[in-house]
Amino acid sequence: MPVKLKSPIVFFFLLLVACNAGKNIVPVTVLTISDTTAQEGKKIILASDCITCHKIGDDKLIGPSFIDVSNKYATTQRNIDFLSDKIISGGSGNWGKIPMTPHRNLTNGNAALAVKYILSLKK
Ligand code: HEC
Repeated sequence: MPVKLKSPIVFFFLLLVACNAGKNIVPVTVLTISDTTAQEGKKIILASDCITCHKIGDDKLIGPSFIDVSNKYATTQRNIDFLSDKIISGGSGNWGKIPMTPHRNLTNGNAALAVKYILSLKK
């Protein structure tokens, strides 16, 4: 008796789950960064003040090492946009309480190149 009562409900529930599977999933494309793009980004980083607070590899300085940043974020357009904005506006909270200073002199394009270089460092 309880089984007979329950199974249509279970079936209906499973049908709902099945129909909803795949919805709300925005396709995420993982991008590949070309060497040329990465080298352009590296130049922007070296011409700015980044390395007073960041090392490329090894330990944290004032900010996280760029390899640590790279390992934390997948190379998606969304992350590139988020990190470019963060470099331009500055801020804290993702690695600790010390804030990154803003870099309002950087254009969106140059900040994005810097991010692409950083994300190309994944280990
Ligand atoms: C005054 C020190 C300082 C300078 C200069 C600096 N950063 Fe940062 N950066 C930090 C700190 C501190 C954090 C961690 C912020 C946090 O916890 O969210 C950080 C975080 C980051 C992150 C990761 C952001 C996140 O939310 O995960 C990126 C990418 C980054 N910096 C790139 C750069 C680039 C590129 C430059 C040069 C244009 C630069 N930083 C210059 C201190 C600095």
